[in-house]
Amino acid sequence: MTQDEAKRLVARRAVQFVEDGMAVGLGTGTTSRMFIEELGAKVKAAGLKIRCVASSDASHDLAKSLGMDVTTLAELPTLDVYIDGADEVAPGLALIKGGGGALLREKIVASSAKRFIVVADSTKVVEHLGKFPLPVEVVKMALPKVQTKLTELGLKPQLRKYPDGSIYLTDENNYILDCHVGMITDPVKTAADVRAIIGVVEHGLFLHMAALALIAGDDGVLELQP
Ligand code: 5RP
Repeated sequence: MTQDEAKRLVARRAVQFVEDGMAVGLGTGTTSRMFIEELGAKVKAAGLKIRCVASSDASHDLAKSLGMDVTTLAELPTLDVYIDGADEVAPGLALIKGGGGALLREKIVASSAKRFIVVADSTKVVEHLGKFPLPVEVVKMALPKVQTKLTELGLKPQLRKYPDGSIYLTDENNYILDCHVGMITDPVKTAADVRAIIGVVEHGLFLHMAALALIAGDDGVLELQP
């Protein structure tokens, strides 16, 4: 099974966790995109009545284009479920997220949901977090200061850029520093150290947030609990 086939499989499975009348958080990234497409198809075909809040402009626009009812957290402050991908899934459902740059809104939407379900292909499952660079969202003005502090912590920050060399901007108009840590031995400490830096808006460590992970691979879809 290719990675894309696994993403499609898990996206289809995740749709089964959405029931009529639910308020649903929509994630960001390629797996979430497939989930939104599958959910949009069910809304159309089965007349599923749901309201959604998206964790990025891209997911918002996609869901709208599929005819889904997409609103804001101001209108819908509590969500029944949030379904989103991850860059790494470690034991306890400790996650690195933000490869797609939406970590801030993703964490806000995840924290507004009664249940956060991760959807991923099996390549995302790891023993230790940190091989995937840890994204840290930073206020523009604070960039040099935050860069220095992260370097002092040994986190090897690198400013995210687009392929054309221009600096990447998040939906909230901030920069991202991708930290090439290698292995995060104590995610709780790393999260606290990074959060304590003035100018950091959010980091991509999602700890004790996910309730369930659906992991797709050659053996089908496995369910992992924290
Ligand atoms: C976006 C994210 C994504 O969920 C994460 O990067 C996984 O993406 P994909 O499904 O494309 O592999 O956190 O900010």
